Amino acid sequence: MSTDVVTADGRARVLADGNEIPLAGLGVWQVANDRECVDAVRWALELGYRHIDTAQAYGNEASVGQGLRESGVPREQVFITTKFFPGRKDPVAEARRSLQRLGVDYVDLYIIHWPQGGPTWAWPGMEQARERGYARSIGVSNFGASDLRQLLATATVPPVINQVQFSPYEYRKALLETCQEHEIALEAYSPLGTGRHLASDTVARIARRHGRTPAQVLLRWCVQRAIPVIPKSTHRERIAENAQLFDFRLSDEDLAELDALDRTGGTDRALERPWWR
Ligand code: A2P
Repeated sequence: MSTDVVTADGRARVLADGNEIPLAGLGVWQVANDRECVDAVRWALELGYRHIDTAQAYGNEASVGQGLRESGVPREQVFITTKFFPGRKDPVAEARRSLQRLGVDYVDLYIIHWPQGGPTWAWPGMEQARERGYARSIGVSNFGASDLRQLLATATVPPVINQVQFSPYEYRKALLETCQEHEIALEAYSPLGTGRHLASDTVARIARRHGRTPAQVLLRWCVQRAIPVIPKSTHRERIAENAQLFDFRLSDEDLAELDALDRTGGTDRALERPWWR
């Protein structure tokens, strides 16, 4: 674990702007904007999660806000991410709408969901959203190395996060290195391969060796590298399981076996098939 970027308890990462993001979070992509999402968020917070990841495009920010209030956990103890939907024009106006739906005064992290229309046009609006206090930190998602370089050439405030599809099977090594070079934290979405990677023989073998579950091995592979991770589940017992990541360690051999599962060729791209082009 890179000790310079994690907090003393090993459970959060210090971002380049000084803010801290808990390494384990709950993702709510494809969770319906109703009881399903409210309960998942409430359970996660009751179980000790302090990091929830939503997006304007998910349509469930209102339920995330309701889950937060129902949990009774003070808002300031929870790291909340939402994402600017780049089909819209104005990141500032959309941030304001997100805050209304969430029922909070600020989000901890506001990121461009994908570089539709190019990687730079929305950034001044993201900087303004931060300036106005709507977001503590700003960043991007689904940006490849070339997108990041273009953005960094024009940004006044650099992005502190790039959230991408990342797992042993999508081990985008060159993209990770580009992020590290520019003090951008890579954050992993779909860390379980939306469930597909849980059937892997290699992952199952390593899990057995440690008396752990396949999900915990896939998530530990990220957090041990100080990569924040946001598995999605709507089942209370799985939400609990996915946060038990800090009481075991993968060996160098385990990590090497998992690294070898990569199917991207160590790419610096964020996605093999961008959906917005
Ligand atoms: P469910 O929501 O029904 O629990 P990812 O985070 O990579 O997108 O993966 C999410 C998928 O993996 C969902 O289908 C989720 O199902 C499933 N999942 C999440 N956590 C676990 C777990 N600990 N064990 C088995 N399946 C899980």
